[in-house]
Amino acid sequence: MFKTIENGYTLGYVPRPLVIVVVGENPFTVGWHTPVNKNPFLYSISIDKTNYSYRLLKDNFTINFLTSEYFEQILIAGSYHGDQVDKLSLMKNIHLIDSEKVASKSILESFMVYECEVYEKLDFQDHSLVIGRVLAIKYKRGKVKPKNKLVFSMGKNYYCFNTKGFYKKI
Ligand SMILES: Cc1cc2nc3c(=O)[nH]c(=O)nc-3n(C[C@H](O)[C@H](O)[C@H](O)COP(=O)(O)O)c2cc1C
Repeated sequence: MFKTIENGYTLGYVPRPLVIVVVGENPFTVGWHTPVNKNPFLYSISIDKTNYSYRLLKDNFTINFLTSEYFEQILIAGSYHGDQVDKLSLMKNIHLIDSEKVASKSILESFMVYECEVYEKLDFQDHSLVIGRVLAIKYKRGKVKPKNKLVFSMGKNYYCFNTKGFYKKI
């Protein structure tokens, strides 16, 4: 039989792919993100209001997709606050570059980047759901593949990588 639990939002080892969101020049790791509309293409992230990035966020941000090669850097971006620690100096092999359509920077090492302008914000008690309108989808040719190894969070400091992707038709 089922049991119920209060405050068990981290329970359930459902892997969530991790991205690094950059607000201005501040990178932070996000597991709560998803596409929400096709046309216009809208992509949402949920930001903890205690994060420096929440205070920084005005009207744009970028979503940076990185392979598991950058696992360490993803953890660093998700472990320190940008107003207290110079995260970028700790995140070896990560370089910020100018974006094409928004003021927030992009991460050069990403295999794909969504440049977003804030479309809507929904403030909850401790998180803010920020829906971005994707103004530019940038990708590296030959690097967006189903076999890309990504980092997934499973809650409570558990992580996993996907194995190989495969094509299947019914
Ligand atoms: C695996 C993982 C997933 C995370 N997911 C989110 C998330 O979805 N939303 C969020 O606001 N913070 C998330 N965080 C926490 C922030 O990345 C972390 O608090 C970070 O230090 C915030 O940086 P900042 O204060 O410079 O904005 C996550 C951290 C980790 C390690």
